[in-house]
Amino acid sequence: RTLDDVSDLSGQTAMVRVDFNVPMEDGNVTDDTRLKAALPTIHRLREAGAKVVLLAHFDRPKGERVPSMSLRPVVEPLELLLHGPVRFADDCVGDEAKAAVADLDAGGVLLLENVRFHKGEEKNDPAFAEQLAELGDLYVNDAFSAAHRAHASTEGLARLLPAYAGCAMARELEALDAALGKPQKPVIGIVGGAKVSTKLDLLKNLVAKLDYLAIGGGMANTFLFAQGVDVGGSLCEKDLADTAREIIEEARRQGCELLLPVDVVVAKGVKPGIESGVRALDRIAADDLILDAGPETVARLNRAMDLSKTLIWNGPLGVFEVPPFDKATVAAAKHAAELAKAGKLVAVAGGGDTVAALHHAGTADNMTFVSTAGGAFLEWMEGKVLPGVEALRAA
Ligand code: 3PG
Repeated sequence: RTLDDVSDLSGQTAMVRVDFNVPMEDGNVTDDTRLKAALPTIHRLREAGAKVVLLAHFDRPKGERVPSMSLRPVVEPLELLLHGPVRFADDCVGDEAKAAVADLDAGGVLLLENVRFHKGEEKNDPAFAEQLAELGDLYVNDAFSAAHRAHASTEGLARLLPAYAGCAMARELEALDAALGKPQKPVIGIVGGAKVSTKLDLLKNLVAKLDYLAIGGGMANTFLFAQGVDVGGSLCEKDLADTAREIIEEARRQGCELLLPVDVVVAKGVKPGIESGVRALDRIAADDLILDAGPETVARLNRAMDLSKTLIWNGPLGVFEVPPFDKATVAAAKHAAELAKAGKLVAVAGGGDTVAALHHAGTADNMTFVSTAGGAFLEWMEGKVLPGVEALRAA
């Protein structure tokens, strides 16, 4: 259920779970992407005359009141984005919170202090969820990026108040469904990043669902090593060679074409502008570090994208933070964005470094959908049930 399903919001107090776990330096928000993501829901509720009470966590204070983990620094940037006042309460439950909610006019916005200052949040303690529920009339979850947590404000509350998906949550679920739920085939996945060990579940789930799977980044080295390639001094999880071979075999069985690097970019160290070169797989020296995919690899990946209708992308293809090792990621991102812009490819990306890599490539705005979620995006791609989403469905 979304906010479209609420007949009259006027005068109602909406408890809105947002994800304001934003990058912060010295008490200043350095990236407001997640604040912006919450705006459509906030506007929608205000226009309908509801009182908007925002619930969020920041960092991991583990149930303690840690001053440096207060949400107060979020107030000012949020006010700028909303062009209006945002009130703040020093606690998310109890008398202080109750008084602040009571004081709120229709259309007013109140941000409550970090829900993780209370142990009951992460324990999903029903008594704590009950205290939150007492503050409002309905619950709106707009925090897909925290939906992999079964906490009181992400899961428990959905069982205590009439529960709805917020605008960002609904958009996210729709986009994800278009990518893996009921995708237009063929579907191609790009999975990159440093280590295979952190993405085993992901790879196993994807080979069963995709038509093509391109593996890039440091984790590709383990696959190359498993196939007998000498990867020199590159990052490589040699103890996972058997697992990599199993994944290769499973992909073959499931009819998923694995795209592993056929050429690589190497250097003797990871420094901006350091001398680097393209190597065939049988020409990697003992002291070479593989830091990016080579041009022929990218050309093959781009051709596979041309043949696909849907792309799902998680993880960069090389050490994109250190040019020139950003070339493969940038080239593939540009190609995906062009296809998406021309309406030929539904291109969905998300998770940790991926968004930063797409911003670096200047293509984030041209993808069909870029998720702001890190861990939640990954768990969803792994085929896991997200408690926050499940609770909304059950409601
Ligand atoms: C995130 O930043 O990915 C979410 O806000 C979840 O934060 P957490 O990993 O501390 O639960």
